[in-house]
Amino acid sequence: MAPISALIGSTEDSARQILDAIESQFQLSDDALVRITDQFLKDFRLGLSEYNHPMAMIPTFVTGVPNGSETGTFLALDLGGTNLRVCEVQLKGNHQFTLRQQKYRVSEALKTGEATALFDYLADSVDAFLTEFPSSPNSAPPDPFATGSSALDLLDTSDSSPAVPLGLTFSFPVEQTALNRGKVLTWTKGFSAKNAIGHDVVQLLQDAFDRKHLHVRCVALVNDTVGALLSRAYTAGGCILGSIFGTGTNGAYVEKVENITKLGDSPARKHGGDMVVNTEWGAFNNTRTTLPTTPYDNKLDRESINPRLQAFEKFISGMYLGEITRNIILSLIDAAPYPILFNGRASALLNKHYGLDTAVMSEIEQAWENGRDQPSSNDKLVNGSHAISNASAAHPHPSLSTPTRHFTEVDKLSPEDRSRLERIRNIVIQRFALDAADVTLRDAAIVHWTSCLVANRAAKLSGCAIAAVLVQTEKAKLGGGFVPKDEKITIGVDGSLIEHYPNFNARLRASVRTLVGEEVEARLNIGLAKDGSGVGAALCALQATKQGL
Ligand code: GLC
Repeated sequence: MAPISALIGSTEDSARQILDAIESQFQLSDDALVRITDQFLKDFRLGLSEYNHPMAMIPTFVTGVPNGSETGTFLALDLGGTNLRVCEVQLKGNHQFTLRQQKYRVSEALKTGEATALFDYLADSVDAFLTEFPSSPNSAPPDPFATGSSALDLLDTSDSSPAVPLGLTFSFPVEQTALNRGKVLTWTKGFSAKNAIGHDVVQLLQDAFDRKHLHVRCVALVNDTVGALLSRAYTAGGCILGSIFGTGTNGAYVEKVENITKLGDSPARKHGGDMVVNTEWGAFNNTRTTLPTTPYDNKLDRESINPRLQAFEKFISGMYLGEITRNIILSLIDAAPYPILFNGRASALLNKHYGLDTAVMSEIEQAWENGRDQPSSNDKLVNGSHAISNASAAHPHPSLSTPTRHFTEVDKLSPEDRSRLERIRNIVIQRFALDAADVTLRDAAIVHWTSCLVANRAAKLSGCAIAAVLVQTEKAKLGGGFVPKDEKITIGVDGSLIEHYPNFNARLRASVRTLVGEEVEARLNIGLAKDGSGVGAALCALQATKQGL
């Protein structure tokens, strides 16, 4: 009888086959990208015509974007990312703003407990902010619309004084019925607080303020994507899309009201014009018929607190990329007949659900980038204008066009590459809490390759969402060949992935280029909507107070 090793081939052959199989599951052909974008467009149209679809296409009742001349000082409260933030935003009216903010931690107990406890905590945080950060002595008199005034000056608790106007950025799906009204549709991103679904989120917050006798009034409700759109419009003088690539992912864009047919013959529809629509694209293709799902994605979904929901988000966002990567790494540790990673050993951290943070993947990719012969500048944020350079369009990054090899022959590496892998190996040992003796340079190369696979797929899929909005808003045609009239197509983005993950923006742009052509991609002015949630909430609060809400 032939020895087992002859039947299954050498260690190297079997590893190669396993790694090749994983690589092919994570590849996305150009055709696949087109199919996904096409499905996106169908789902956009369905969500615009009927309620209760996963791609909710929520009308926000924000009917215009700012031009940068707006002024006023507002409080903003931002719930939905990694932290809760309270800020005071001063819109200066010249495309500029100043912002003072404080972050507060939201514990797992609050995320998953009773909604009243969560909203009480929000109110307490606003209270703490108002108490701990007294207004500057030079502040002008209490007028919410006067440049130079401070929202804190308004905290005169006498009954006759106006309450401090606050804009709430609540970054979860909410069916809005007015600028200051909306019912929670579902929780996402690890939240599951009880007795919130179906309730008006503004009322939940206002009740908490009232319980605590805080003289603050929630006048506007905004999603973080809408915040990104508005704040980018404020600083850049216009914007068509605000999108988040952070803990979660989503986009809001400016749509013609006539296309939002589900509004029927409501006053808003009759009024016509434009309205910002919050797509909630994180829920795209929850059936996974079009998304290129793998066993690693299925495991993540099955073990998540919201199985079969937020499918697109689970392929893309910062909350999940580390977990997909962990699932692949574990399968390589467990590979049979021979382990492929770390001598077949894991660590308590690697065995822990969500034990691998996406930030570690980012660190690993950065360690590789840092030693490149020609450091990449094409993925950096340009300071000041907060524009994200599009230079990558003309000069594709080598690691975008050449797939990172999973099977590195360490002996043949250049000294530079070897030292880059040494750095990655050190990160792996530290961050995965592994014994150094179990981590080889080849292991480091495989972990780097895994991170690239997962992040590359995420960025390409993100490109599909952006391309779909460009086509829906008639700025582009799927397949390319369309020359937009507009000189620049301004997009506001925010979130840890787009801001910090090496090459995420360049990879995303490469995908958009594949889908809508170079001409359109080159005109994209993708800029960071830094503090978009706070500034967007302030701008909405301004619009609301002007409307007398
Ligand atoms: C999730 C939320 C969405 C939010 C996004 C980004 O997808 O459902 O409302 O905009 O995360 O924070």
